[in-house]
Amino acid sequence: MRKDTQCVHSGTRKDPNTRGLNTPIYTSSSFEYLDAPENVYPRYFNTPNQKTLIDKLCALENAEDGLIFSSGMAAISTVMLTFLSSGDHVVLQKDIYGGTHHFVTAEFDRFGIQYTFVSNRTEEIEKAVQKNTKIIYIETPSNPLLLITDIEATARIAKANNALSVIDNTFATPINQNPLDFDIDIVAHSGTKYLGGHSDLCCGAVLARKELAGKIWSAAANFGGSLNAITCYLLERSLKTLSVRIEKHNQNARIIAEYLQNDSRIPKVYYPGLESHPGYETAKKQMQGFGGMLAFELGDAAQNPDRFLKNLKLITPALSLGGVETIICSPATTSHEKITDAERAELGITDNLLRLSVGVENAADIIADIDQALTAFNP
Ligand SMILES: Cc1ncc(COP(=O)(O)O)c(C=O)c1O
Repeated sequence: MRKDTQCVHSGTRKDPNTRGLNTPIYTSSSFEYLDAPENVYPRYFNTPNQKTLIDKLCALENAEDGLIFSSGMAAISTVMLTFLSSGDHVVLQKDIYGGTHHFVTAEFDRFGIQYTFVSNRTEEIEKAVQKNTKIIYIETPSNPLLLITDIEATARIAKANNALSVIDNTFATPINQNPLDFDIDIVAHSGTKYLGGHSDLCCGAVLARKELAGKIWSAAANFGGSLNAITCYLLERSLKTLSVRIEKHNQNARIIAEYLQNDSRIPKVYYPGLESHPGYETAKKQMQGFGGMLAFELGDAAQNPDRFLKNLKLITPALSLGGVETIICSPATTSHEKITDAERAELGITDNLLRLSVGVENAADIIADIDQALTAFNP
């Protein structure tokens, strides 16, 4: 089946009692065990609603197995703590979601786990690998600057050094990018974003080969970050339209990126689908679409980007991303507020940088709102 068909059909467990088309919401947290092939329990990641989702996401990511978590950070932290012990070392891309960056800097020292942050350049990633490196962690396109990291090269470096390659595929989604096809070992998602897609749920996912997923499962059952049946159902419902939503997100983001690039009031635009983006060629190689996320800088007149944000009428300044509605945020005061001023400066996350999560509205309406807000802000 092709991706749009998989979105609709893969994993569905039709209602055996009523012959209804949808997977019922199985609310039980207690399951009979005599003569059962396995013990079923929500924290074991194996209830029918959890398995439905795993089957659908495995189909979409070309994975053998996976787990559904209660948040993206539950997924990411569980993967890291499954494979890392005291004395181990991790190489991480610098420009990643601020929460992941903060997880590493706030928690790893007390476990005796060493880490090196590097740019997204293949040579730098390779140079940072040490004898005790166990994980190479990347995010592409990255949050918030939409940097593109070469997935195939990263997987190759990890294999050559007996390390695991892990990627956060949240921005791309399985519709635009399938990292396991490029030999990446483990794919993580914040399902709170595009997979959920309607800004009304929080969840995460991990997809991998059976053997690795089994190891992650052993730790995850101890850490306990599983997802409840009702949210599983909401996510299953959302995934049925993932492909059509992403197609529209891709289209809209490109139109808006081109508009911003041609507006003299906007000095910088970051979108991997623009030929001027430094990662354009790599993105073309590894992505089927360029995604719905972009970032741009306001000009010098923008002493206070909040003033621009307050002028917007349709677009909402809000946390998170990946929903059907267009939202905007200043990474310096939201997603990346916990990293230091010096780190932000080094990454190029200026106070004037705004990250736009382009929704599925009509692109002309989104552009009209940006235009009127810029005009009111910068007449
Ligand atoms: C790229 C990326 N990865 C991971 C996360 C963490 O996900 P969650 O908030 O679902 O824990 C986020 C959240 O913003 C994100 O943007």
